[in-house]
Amino acid sequence: MIRTDSLTRDFGNNRGVFDLSLSVPGGEIFGFIGPNGSGKTTTIRMLCGLLRPTAGTSYINNIEVTPRNLPQIKKLIGYMPDAFGVYEQMSVWEYLDFFCAAYRIPGRKRKPRIDEVLELTEAAYMLDYQMGSLSHGMNKRIALARTLLHDPEVLIMDEPANGLDPNGRIEMRRMIMRLREHGKTIMLSSHILPELSSVCDRVGILEKGRLVTQGTVKQITSSLHEKIVLAYQIGSDRQVAAALCKAFPNVESVASAGNEMRVVFAGTRDHIAELNRMLVEKGVRLMAVHEEEADLEEAFLRVTGRKA
Ligand SMILES: Nc1ncnc2c1ncn2[C@@H]1O[C@H](COP(=O)(O)OP(=O)(O)OP(=O)(O)O)[C@@H](O)[C@H]1O
Ligand SMILES: [Mg+2]
Repeated sequence: MIRTDSLTRDFGNNRGVFDLSLSVPGGEIFGFIGPNGSGKTTTIRMLCGLLRPTAGTSYINNIEVTPRNLPQIKKLIGYMPDAFGVYEQMSVWEYLDFFCAAYRIPGRKRKPRIDEVLELTEAAYMLDYQMGSLSHGMNKRIALARTLLHDPEVLIMDEPANGLDPNGRIEMRRMIMRLREHGKTIMLSSHILPELSSVCDRVGILEKGRLVTQGTVKQITSSLHEKIVLAYQIGSDRQVAAALCKAFPNVESVASAGNEMRVVFAGTRDHIAELNRMLVEKGVRLMAVHEEEADLEEAFLRVTGRKA
């Protein structure tokens, strides 16, 4: 649904986007992750036909993004920019009606369409609010509602979670998931890693205009995982449990506090079963055990060679 082939926009001085090739199949949520200035917005603007590439091509639903094809591309894409124009004096209703007109949605269809997008974004109660009175979080929701007016197949959202409080981010995630259920293909960018990883099928990490890695969150994080980290909850003497673990082959380190114990393990997965069996046989009460995953943040710092 979204594809780029060696997409490049060279601003000089090693700034811009270089040789970027990625593809996002229909119905997928793709996270485009990179620090400030890495080229996320530049890529997105090229995909939406707002900026000409210096080299390379991009396609939306197999239609090449060129000035000539722009009318078709605009129908396919809903673009939610990072910063959007403020129409302070308008009510939410007037604002959305205005954009309906811009999308050439006929008058009689506007009201039901506006109701629909406000329902999708859980913002129906804002209908008569003045745009200038909306909080940042409310503004983002109305921006998303606006993006959905022409029912685009592809949604490209630049930093949709930027500036939202934790609750706002949870809501934004939920809306994104719901839009996927409606069959949308979604590409979103962020410089805040963990908050997006849970909704994305795949992510690409961008650094200085270059895609340094892409894959599922699991692929990216597990390729970095040389060791298995096990987190136990212990219902008996944890020092006994820790001593037993330390004596077990391939256990590299054990740390415990409260009723928790964290074991760094360099063995195979079969050995984990053996370790657990040994603990139980020795009378340790295992309340819970789970494997800690390297998070995307750690992965990001490693692939980009940065230091936390
Ligand atoms: N019109 C332009 N002219 C010259 N340089 C530009 C232009 N637009 C962007 N750049 C440069 O290209 C690089 C990438 O910028 P871009 O805005 O795409 O980054 P970003 O990943 O979206 O960053 P942020 O997280 O801050 O939004 C930056 O170094 C920026 O200064
Ligand atoms: Mg940006």
